[in-house]
Amino acid sequence: MPKIVVLPHDDLCPEGAVLEANSGETVLDVALKNGIGIEHACEKSCACTTCHVIVREGFDSLEESEELEDDMLDKAWGLEPESRLGCQAVVADEDLVVEIPRYTLNHASEDH
Ligand code: FES
Repeated sequence: MPKIVVLPHDDLCPEGAVLEANSGETVLDVALKNGIGIEHACEKSCACTTCHVIVREGFDSLEESEELEDDMLDKAWGLEPESRLGCQAVVADEDLVVEIPRYTLNHASEDH
C-alpha cells in the first residue's frame, strides 16, 4: 500500500504523519480519514483552492492535473510547480511526501 508522508504543519498536524493510502483515493480523503483537517470549502468539486497541497515527492506518479484544476491552482496562495488540489490528486502506487501550505486562500483573502 502506498504511504503518504505529511510534513509537519503547525495547526493541522504539528508532528507530521505517515498515512496508509489506497491507490485511487485522493490525497484529501486520506488526510481527512486520518484526522488531518485540510480545508475543502467547495466539497471536493475543484472549485476552490483551500485543499491546496504541495507534493514534494512522488508528484510524477500522480495523474496529471486537468485544466480546471490548473486554473484554480493559479489562484492559490504560495503556488509551486508541485502544487495540486488535494481533492483532485489521486494516489497511484507510489509513496508521496505532501506539504500542507501554511496559509490557505481563506486566511490570506483579506489581502485581496
Ligand atoms: S476542496 Fe475545493 S478544490 Fe478541492
